[in-house]
Amino acid sequence: MLFIAMNRFRIAPGKAEEFIEIWRQRESYLDGVPGFKEFHLLQGPATEEYSLFASHSVWESREAFEAWTRSEAFRKAHAGAGAAKGIYLGPPQLELFDAVI
Ligand code: HEM
Repeated sequence: MLFIAMNRFRIAPGKAEEFIEIWRQRESYLDGVPGFKEFHLLQGPATEEYSLFASHSVWESREAFEAWTRSEAFRKAHAGAGAAKGIYLGPPQLELFDAVI
């Protein structure tokens, strides 16, 4: 069954475009990772306090996802994470889903 890993990011007001640009220009290492299916960056609602985004990744299985988190591809993708200042209002919130239907 499919497995979905989502990370929610709360982005400072006025910084949404900069955040999107960081993700657009990132070096991606997902292509060719065993069991990886799809990636989307999702933009949600904005409030006065933050703009909501989620990274959404779809995997063939929980095992494939977990193997990626231990891989060099994961390490490289996150080598620069946390460098941007004033954009992220805190650490991301991870949510993991098993597809049931
Ligand atoms: C197990 C937990 C995590 C998952 C499932 C996850 C998911 C992802 C995915 C799928 C990518 C794209 C990788 C690529 O294209 O090769 C990515 C990149 C990124 N992740 Fe994570 N991530 C996790 C942990 C974290 C943490 C803890 C942070 C923040 C400290 C973070 C911040 C970022 C950033 C900022 C990028 C790329 C943007 C850039 O290059 O600056 N992630 N993450």
